[in-house]
Amino acid sequence: MTATASTFQNYIRGKWQSAQSGKTFPNYNPATGELLGYFPLSDQVESDAAVAAARAAFDKWRLVPAPKRGEILYRAAELLIRHKEELARTMTQEMGKILKETRGDVQEGIDMAYYTGGEGRRLFGYSVSVELPNKSGLAMRDPVGVVACITPWNFPIAIPTWKMFPALIAGNTVVIKPASDTPLSALRLVEILYEAGLPEGVVNIVFGPGSTVGQALLHHPDVAVVSFTGSTESGRQVAIEAARSLKRVSLEMGGKNAVIVMDDADLDLAVEGILWSAYGTTGQRCTACSRVIAHSAIRDKLLEKLVPRIEQLQLGNGLDEGVDVGPVINASQLEKIHSYTEIGKAEGATLVTGGSIAQEGELARGYFYHPTLFSDVRPAMRIAQEEIFGPTLSVIAVNSLDEAIAVNNNTKYGLSSAIYTQDINRVQLAMRDITTGILYVNSGTTGAEIQFPFGGTRGTGNGHREAGIAGLDVFTEWKVVYTDFSGKLQKAQIDE
Ligand code: UN1
Repeated sequence: MTATASTFQNYIRGKWQSAQSGKTFPNYNPATGELLGYFPLSDQVESDAAVAAARAAFDKWRLVPAPKRGEILYRAAELLIRHKEELARTMTQEMGKILKETRGDVQEGIDMAYYTGGEGRRLFGYSVSVELPNKSGLAMRDPVGVVACITPWNFPIAIPTWKMFPALIAGNTVVIKPASDTPLSALRLVEILYEAGLPEGVVNIVFGPGSTVGQALLHHPDVAVVSFTGSTESGRQVAIEAARSLKRVSLEMGGKNAVIVMDDADLDLAVEGILWSAYGTTGQRCTACSRVIAHSAIRDKLLEKLVPRIEQLQLGNGLDEGVDVGPVINASQLEKIHSYTEIGKAEGATLVTGGSIAQEGELARGYFYHPTLFSDVRPAMRIAQEEIFGPTLSVIAVNSLDEAIAVNNNTKYGLSSAIYTQDINRVQLAMRDITTGILYVNSGTTGAEIQFPFGGTRGTGNGHREAGIAGLDVFTEWKVVYTDFSGKLQKAQIDE
């Protein structure tokens, strides 16, 4: 611990402020254990103040023409570009993923800012024909009011932009509660929005736990929509509690994503896709591949190519050149990941590589786990069913495409899937029969682009999608306006 670590504050109603209780929590670098700063341990007092600020700002912000709101997002994009490198470094220090990936995370925020800024000149509603003469009909989008964004630590800038930018362009105001493992990245993003010209109170940031800040936002009558990304268990609680007040909630939760490798696949290509999507971001993406469903005719050959590549992955501090895989986020995740290794062994799967906490040299200072692969995994095993959110991959052998698709679909999640095959007919069958939010053909399970809807089936979500045009639906309410210019009472749905 250093006595000089900075203490950061909430930003509410255009002012930096500490929690009224004076309490703080620390933020550590998961690669080194270094203390990065203290953040306010807020509770209901700060959440309520932030909602009140957002509610007050809404009356003006909703009247700012959407193209003007978009211009602020364009300026935010330019600032994100200018500060990309320092934001990426801060993010790597805060949550561990390697610099190439944190740059990619910031880039996703930049893409989202440009894309959503452009939406300021669209925000399409529609006009269609009507039943009666001299009458018109128009469906338009209204903002919902105050939006609460509860964001995770694995994409500390990208995911807040997925939620805040569509909310803002539609004329809503925002309270964001970022994950306590990555407060600084979110704070920097909020600073950039204000530097870009956002009026005071339009975005408010409150740091603290879900159990107090998150709960208060969820229960506040002036919060119209809660957009949440996190575990399926937490998301379920959010949905249950929001149901009491009929609050709209958009949930983006877990995954148990699979790469299917058929017997005709280009195995070298498949190895690249599997390596990247299973061990990139240390497996901590909701789109990460945690199952390989391999045709038994090529399974051994695939493993022969894959395993040495896994063993060559360099673990280390994400700031260092040559590092492929950073730490996991914190001690409890490290423990959870390791517990799944024990579970997999006890279930009778074969541990092929990895399976232990890395403690060599400098690695002992952080939360590192050796990239792990199990083979001889059966589809019903817990390691093949439950989200581990770490660098652990299970290989399941199957004998046909039908079986592969059935195994793919038979989990409680449905975010992302991939198939490697050269056969166009198999591709079409996979497109038709895989029940997933995202399907990749001859590519791994990660890397969704922001102009498409993002989200999944079953326990991954609750039917909403983020990003793309679909993302706007979460943050807008349809309003239909009928105008009768006939000068007389025209009765609809009366058959005289
Ligand atoms: C997540 O892990 O929550 O598709 C999001 C991807 C990234 C986003 C992942 N664009 O892998």
